[in-house]
Parts: sequence; C-alpha cells; structure tokens
Amino acid sequence: MLWGRDRLTIIDQTYLPLEKKIIDLCDYRQVAEAITVLRIRGAPAIGVAAAYGVVLAAREFEKEDDFWGKLQGAATELRQTRPTAVNLFWAIDKMLAIAVANQERPSSEIADLLEAEAILMTEDDIKCNMAMGLHGEPFIIDGDVVLTHCNAGSLATVDHGTALGVLRTAWDKGKRFQVYADETRPLLQGARLTVYELMEHGIPTTLITDNMAGHFMQQKIITKAITGADRIALNGDSANKIGTYQVAVLAKYHGLPFYVAAPLSTVDPRLKNGDGIIIEERNPDEVTHLYSSRIAPIGAKVRNPAFDVTPAALITAIITEKGVAFPPYEESIPRLLGQI
Ligand code: MRU
Repeated sequence: MLWGRDRLTIIDQTYLPLEKKIIDLCDYRQVAEAITVLRIRGAPAIGVAAAYGVVLAAREFEKEDDFWGKLQGAATELRQTRPTAVNLFWAIDKMLAIAVANQERPSSEIADLLEAEAILMTEDDIKCNMAMGLHGEPFIIDGDVVLTHCNAGSLATVDHGTALGVLRTAWDKGKRFQVYADETRPLLQGARLTVYELMEHGIPTTLITDNMAGHFMQQKIITKAITGADRIALNGDSANKIGTYQVAVLAKYHGLPFYVAAPLSTVDPRLKNGDGIIIEERNPDEVTHLYSSRIAPIGAKVRNPAFDVTPAALITAIITEKGVAFPPYEESIPRLLGQI
C-alpha cells in the first residue's frame, strides 16, 4: 500500500492472481468498503489502512464546525468493517488517542499529526515483520516442507509478511525448503494470494486443498506448520483464518511443530483467553458460490465463520517482533509486552 497525501493506493486483492488491479481510496468510506469486501485484508494491513482512513476523515472534516463529531463518526464506521482482527481497533484507538491528546490545536494541525502517525505505523509494520523474520527463521531448516494456511504475507501487511515473512527471511538466508499452501476455502486466500506471493519470491510451493493437509502429514511429507494470527489472547489462544484450528490439531496428532507469527499489536491485552474473541460470520454466498458460480442447492442452510481460535496448548511457539514466546504463554506474552 502507498500513501499519497490525499489517497491510499492499494492492490485490489479481490482480483488477484488474475489481475494486479491498483485502486485509489480517496476517502474513509472507500477505505471502509475496501476492508469490508477484502480488497485489502490481513490483520496488520487492515490496521494500517484504517489508520489512513482516519487521516482521510480528518482532512475531509478539518474545516468543518463539528470536526470532532465527524471524526469520531468516521472512526466508528471504520471499526464496524470487520470484528476479529484486533489490529484494526488497535490502530484506530492509537489514532484517536493522538487526536485527543492534541485537541487544543487547530483541526488542520491534528490532521497533520494523524498523517505523521499513520506513516510511522506503516514504517513500524515493515520493521516488525523484518524482526519477526529474523526471530523465526531459525525454526526453518534445510529440507523442511512447511504448511501454511490463508495468507500472512506482504499482501496481508505493509510488506514482507508475518508467517510468510519468516519463510522469506529463511529463504533469503540460503535455507532451502518447500511450502505447502492450503487453498483456504471459502475465499481462497491461500490459492490466490499465498501461492502468488511465494512464486514471485521463487520459493518452491505446492498448492493443496484444505482437506489434504492431514494426508500429507501422515505421509511424513509436511514437517511443520506456520500461520499468522488475527487476535491473540494473553494465554496464547490465537484466532486466525477458519481452518487454522484443524491444521494445529493435525500437527499435534502427528507430532509436528505448529508456529504462529504475529506482531504484538495482534495481542489483545484485555483478553485472558480466546473465549472472548468475536468471530466474524460472513455472507453465505461465499460458501454456496465459487466466484459467481453456484455450487450448492438454492436454499441450502449455510454457516460461514471467517476465523477460528487455536488453543494455546496446540501452539509450539509464537514469533513476535520482540522475540519468541514459548509456553506458558501466560508468562511469556506479558513479558514480551513489557507488562512483567
Ligand atoms: O479474512 P482475511 O483474509 O483478512 O484473513 C487473514 C488471516 O487470517 C491472516 O492469516 C491473518 O490476518 C494474519 S495476516 C499477517
């Protein structure tokens, strides 16, 4: 994503991999729409995009009487786009805190400060991902076949990625391994985005459907798994794309390590465990249709949760920008957060 003072330029991920369509988001409503329909997606990316949404709102309203009411209204609209990834709320809260701390200043100066904060967030995201890469790459060894689920790469962040960032760093350091990418139904982020990204980076990648992972573990082909996360509780319970939980269960059954890579902004410090994580339920059409083709009978009853929660007991380690958390996470996560 690229910031250009009056617009946020992004790749519209709904067209990938068939078309690399670049679009401009010129006001906060367009940012909100882009997050809702997954033109931009992935926890860190939607956080940073929402921050720029707040900047666009501040610029739009800076000359109006009810600057504060309108800025808060825009922030509320941005918050309502998606419920699960905590990075969205983390970023908007951070932006509003800057605005509130400077409320005595003219609105145009507040808008300038918000823009500076969003730019800082953008730069920090890349630094975090590079640091996660360095902390995580020792877990990847020559000859590994690493399973990943959904897309936790450049497209899901500002750049480099979290789980895929670890793989990219390992590859760039000369490790030679392969990746198996789950296609990730229903929206196929694995097939469309992860395979696209890893092929661009020259990392040997094999696409499998979600129900093949167990088979390839049983065959002793897959050697470990790594995913990103959308929200992590203080005890290590981690929400990520629907299907991640079954990957973790399968890894445990087969005695394989299961790693999560995520920045500390993905930790929700208000949650003791994963029970309180709100799981987004999306449109049933995503399950009954593949693109615009119907694949289920009209009237079929459907559930479409977009995320699930992997219990901490199934997670070998959580890789963050400040280091690696190992169980017991109740101790290691607060330590990385600087709480103890
Ligand atoms: O619905 P999505 O595509 O936004 O879901 C994305 C994921 O589940 C990612 O794995 C997660 O956000 C981590 S991205 C670094």
